Amino acid sequence: MSLIKDKYQRIIDYMRISITDRCNLRCIYCMPSEGIKPIEHKDILGYEEIIRIVRIAAGLGVRKIRLTGGEPLIRKDLPYLVSSINSIGGIEDISLTTNGLLLKKYARSLASAGLRRVNVSLDSLRPERYREITRGGDINDVLEGIDEAENAGLLPIKINMVPIRGFNDDEIEEFARLTLKTSYNVRFIEFMPIGAKEIWDHEKYISTEEIKERASKIAPLIPVKIRRSGPARYFRFEGAPGVVGFISPITHHFCNSCNRLRLTSDGKLRPCLFSETEIDLKSALRCGASDEEIERLLRLSIEIKPEGHSINHEKCFTHLKPMSKIGG
Ligand code: GTP
Ligand code: 5AD
Ligand code: SF4
Repeated sequence: MSLIKDKYQRIIDYMRISITDRCNLRCIYCMPSEGIKPIEHKDILGYEEIIRIVRIAAGLGVRKIRLTGGEPLIRKDLPYLVSSINSIGGIEDISLTTNGLLLKKYARSLASAGLRRVNVSLDSLRPERYREITRGGDINDVLEGIDEAENAGLLPIKINMVPIRGFNDDEIEEFARLTLKTSYNVRFIEFMPIGAKEIWDHEKYISTEEIKERASKIAPLIPVKIRRSGPARYFRFEGAPGVVGFISPITHHFCNSCNRLRLTSDGKLRPCLFSETEIDLKSALRCGASDEEIERLLRLSIEIKPEGHSINHEKCFTHLKPMSKIGG
């Protein structure tokens, strides 16, 4: 089985694919209120183009695929894409990052198509506040969607929560408590200076250390080792079925173990979330490039993958493309 390393000896076996930059929500920290001008349909990679790229990437050693957005569930015939990727030799894990609104409708067909698991973004458990943060979302749709995903066996369910001071940080304990009665992985993500300019302010950022301290008021958090845990570090309250995770892009760079490449919805290979360097795969695909040429571009993006990023909570990176365009 092939295996590819970058020049810092990191094994690159994970590709995050944003399949659309559009979203059915407008979370205040992600998008400006007027939304973002969407990429034109003709410039979005078609499923056959994505499938071809994954096949070539799998030949290089990519094993894990995550579909993201925008909101991936708004793209038509997603089960077709999932089952096509699932039938590519070498692909071992297909997962999805979603806001969960449409999970109720699609969880079963996606599970049958070969989707393994879902990560759901949920920043408040209070209906009114959820509506405010997402500018219009109905939390009941998400909660029902999570139940349906669980019933369909899309496990473990990971809940991603971004605590923002003054907005939802008073819910940290409530979220952590979810792990006392469910088997969810509740993950707190440090607020990053990327996305909507109107909302970013370094005073709203909360470090993992502080989040953990607040969650620990419930009971001590005991470290747990999870195989292939990715960027999150996991803990458990004694006897709890679920786990609490922390993703700390600001205070604990996980760059030195980063195993990922990104493919944007308009067909650019992006070696790092915070680097603006992109390789245009779409033009190559549409100019009749051979598989060997596509493979060369994939290798190139691995070669130029930077050692790490330099973001911190005091600098502002809101000039970068929003997460919805890069793939969260
Ligand atoms: P698994 O642990 O494999 O389930 O996936 P994941 O945590 O990589 O995926 P998910 O899409 O749930 O990512 C969670 C959050 O981590 C994202 O929303 C980002 O905020 C952050 N994140 C993901 N990838 C990167 C990355 O490459 N760099 C940085 N700085 N943050 C990332
Ligand atoms: N900081 C941290 N996480 C973010 N996400 C979007 N914008 C930010 C940000 N500025 C996360 C969402 C979701 C994923 C797609 O990206 O909460 O979990
Ligand atoms: Fe959509 Fe996710 Fe951005 Fe919210 S954070 S607007 S759900 S892409």
